[in-house]
Amino acid sequence: MCGIIGIVGTKPVAERLIESLKRLEYRGYDSAGIAAQVDGKLVRRRAPGKLRELEAVVAADPLIAETGIGHTRWATHGAPTERNAHPHIAGRVAVVHNGIIENFAELKAELIAKGRVFSSDTDTEVVAHLIDEALNDGLDPQAAFKATLDKLRGAYALAVLVGGEREVIMGARNGPPLAVGYGDGEMFIGSDGLALGPFTNRVAYLEDGDYVIIDHNSAKIFDEAGLPAERPIKTLAAASAVMEKGNYRHFMEKEIHDQPEGCQRTIAAYVDTLSDRTAVPGGIDFAKLERIQIVGCGTAYIAGLIGKYLIEQLADLPVDVEIASEFRYREPALNSATLAIAMSQSGETADTLAALRYCQAKGMRSAGVLNTVESTIGREVDVVWPIHCGPEIGVASTKAFTAQVAVLTAVAVAAAHARGKIDGDEEKRLVRVLLEAPRLMAESIKLEEAVKAVAVEVAKARDVLYLGRGPMYPLALEGALKLKEISYIHAEGYAAGELKHGPIALVDEQTPIVILAPFDSYFEKSASNMSEVMARGGQVVFITDPDGERHAPAGARVVVTAPRCDPLIAPLVMSAPIQLLAYYVAVQKGADVDQPRNLAKSVTVE
Ligand code: F6R
Repeated sequence: MCGIIGIVGTKPVAERLIESLKRLEYRGYDSAGIAAQVDGKLVRRRAPGKLRELEAVVAADPLIAETGIGHTRWATHGAPTERNAHPHIAGRVAVVHNGIIENFAELKAELIAKGRVFSSDTDTEVVAHLIDEALNDGLDPQAAFKATLDKLRGAYALAVLVGGEREVIMGARNGPPLAVGYGDGEMFIGSDGLALGPFTNRVAYLEDGDYVIIDHNSAKIFDEAGLPAERPIKTLAAASAVMEKGNYRHFMEKEIHDQPEGCQRTIAAYVDTLSDRTAVPGGIDFAKLERIQIVGCGTAYIAGLIGKYLIEQLADLPVDVEIASEFRYREPALNSATLAIAMSQSGETADTLAALRYCQAKGMRSAGVLNTVESTIGREVDVVWPIHCGPEIGVASTKAFTAQVAVLTAVAVAAAHARGKIDGDEEKRLVRVLLEAPRLMAESIKLEEAVKAVAVEVAKARDVLYLGRGPMYPLALEGALKLKEISYIHAEGYAAGELKHGPIALVDEQTPIVILAPFDSYFEKSASNMSEVMARGGQVVFITDPDGERHAPAGARVVVTAPRCDPLIAPLVMSAPIQLLAYYVAVQKGADVDQPRNLAKSVTVE
């Protein structure tokens, strides 16, 4: 999704804006631009494509100023061309925007009727024209901005420069997040704390409906009613964290390798290693719950599905898991003895946030399994369950997924004990199993070379099927999602038992079938699905463990043997092979692994 930065500064701004935009690259974008005032005039530089294109434009035609705004654009209205790239300028006003102005068409028609000429296909440009119109009507910049905000419907984070107001930037939030950074004689606004990281770690977050005016020394924040508002200033530990790939080619590769350490941090926060008991923060009384409702999108939703298998089986507590974009509009029947769990790496996904608010309106308590704790969902849930895996930069989620699964695994054990389904000794045993997960995940990552060899073959395929049973079914969904999003190969995940009900028609010599089957209680059934596939010429990539390898029917084209582990942690241990497979197929195909086409890291519009 689009990234925003605004700096009222004392140093050359162009380089700083681009430095900050680089930290927002992970959100996904397809063009970029910056604007500043030079000699009293608004000037901008824009380029389609990556930030290096913008850097080349700026190098050829420098923009000398100390205050300015910048933007990475993820196209919604209008193609990712230079003319649609932000900032958009109308008269004395330059605007960058993240979100969607839903009533832009009617506003645009009114503005055109007044003689305004548009130079882009975006919804954003109406904002610049509306503010400029209001200035022409004699309003001061703040009043012109507020009058404009009152006309907008939809989701937005905005940063605005007004010509002649050299040392001031205005910002507003309604939906997508906007943070205010407090520096030393300098002030900033940006999409998140990471964007502000190079300049300050003192950050306040606007609330929905807020707008802000920053100058060199202050931020004046106003709420929706236009009344002055205070928003707490927090010191962010991770804001200045260096986002480096180290020796890895891509962030995704690094993040796959980060997982054992990340999960170790996660698990350490959910168990007491002295007593080997669970220690889930937040004081939820699992014994009193009648049901859990998990909501999330994409990979976060899939992590929730794995949680359902574990929680229902261990704690005998019913769990519903639903894609947030469906849940929010379906008017699901809920009751207040249900705990809502919002799963989200970013904590900003618009549909997940709306689903959470729906649950809260029904009187339900809520927990958020989140990586970005200082996010909108983080601020709105009753209980935050942080996943502690550090900033995830690769658009395809990997380490956040396993950390989310680790949290739900600890929750499953804690709930089982609280509900009397396991005794203290069994809780201790399961905690010790969980504590083994990071080591076994590290072993699993060592399969990298074997998976790389498989990837060469899979990269030639047009379609790939992933099959699994039990918790390996959601993992099959995740394998298929990872593959399609970064390699653009069509892939589907199925419950292996569904094979005969349709997907078997797809099996031929050209279609690799990835079967995820550790030697667990489902193994025999998965093995017979494997035989059915092979009998029809299917090329099986069998991902199993040493016992599974021994008992597998002969004939799998490739066997990838992950370490043996307790079923409780099999989803964690079996994740690396499917992530590595997607990664190496994408590398083999020369795809842009960290920023796959059309995808955004933080989906702040529905
Ligand atoms: C897939 C992926 C997405 C996200 C989804 C939800 O690799 O990253 O499917 O999982 O957009 O995002 P969050 O977790 O930020 O709510």
